[in-house]
Amino acid sequence: MRQTLVAGNWKLNGSKESIQELLKGILAGMSEAKTAVAVCAPYIYIPMVQEILSGTEVGFGSESISEHDSGAFTGEISGSMLNDFSCQYAIVGHSERRTIFGEKDADTANKFAAARKYGLTPILCLGELLEEREAGTTEEVVARQLDAVIGLEGVGALADAVIAYEPVWAIGTGLTASPQQAQDVHAFIREKIAKLDAGVAEKVQILYGGSVNGGNADELFSMPDIDGGLIGGASLKAEDFLAICRAG
Ligand code: 13P
Repeated sequence: MRQTLVAGNWKLNGSKESIQELLKGILAGMSEAKTAVAVCAPYIYIPMVQEILSGTEVGFGSESISEHDSGAFTGEISGSMLNDFSCQYAIVGHSERRTIFGEKDADTANKFAAARKYGLTPILCLGELLEEREAGTTEEVVARQLDAVIGLEGVGALADAVIAYEPVWAIGTGLTASPQQAQDVHAFIREKIAKLDAGVAEKVQILYGGSVNGGNADELFSMPDIDGGLIGGASLKAEDFLAICRAG
């Protein structure tokens, strides 16, 4: 039985004050959480997040990671730097990194490898654009994104990773994939992995992301291949986030 995980992705949001408030609120409500809980923070706030969360049951991590170890890469943050602040997770391949910042499948695979190299659990985001769904190529796109990682790191690497299926058209739009639409893609991902390694397929957590909220989380998380959620907007207010953590 896989444990359900709810992870927040704060994106480019928050301030020192608002994050302290948010984490205080989350910690206060954790006794009611039915899922494992984590937050992924903007780099600059990670030391503060570590200070507040260390010794608690709420995990934390970064929203991205450099594929490089060190050197002349202005503006980048490496896995060893994230290790210095005890990060447990690093999101890789978020659709905003792919579409706005031009990260390719190969870049995502390299970031996934960098996270693993430093003992971080990568949260690997996969998902199709609206036009790709409308063209009937959802599975092809998700398979291509996943194959880039499997090709570089091998299927076994997914055993210590988290996958997040996030249809791009559902992110921040209020348009959630229906539980069945999400389940279909999650099952496709798991079956694809199972063809290579049934044990890894059974173990890997596959989260759904895209307009998850307290009202739809229960139904989404009750689907057999949906093991929790990666939450954007609703992770910014403790009450909204906790409502999702109480589902599942
Ligand atoms: P929303 O929950 O705001 O749709 O964002 C989802 C997401 O991108 C999480 O990574």
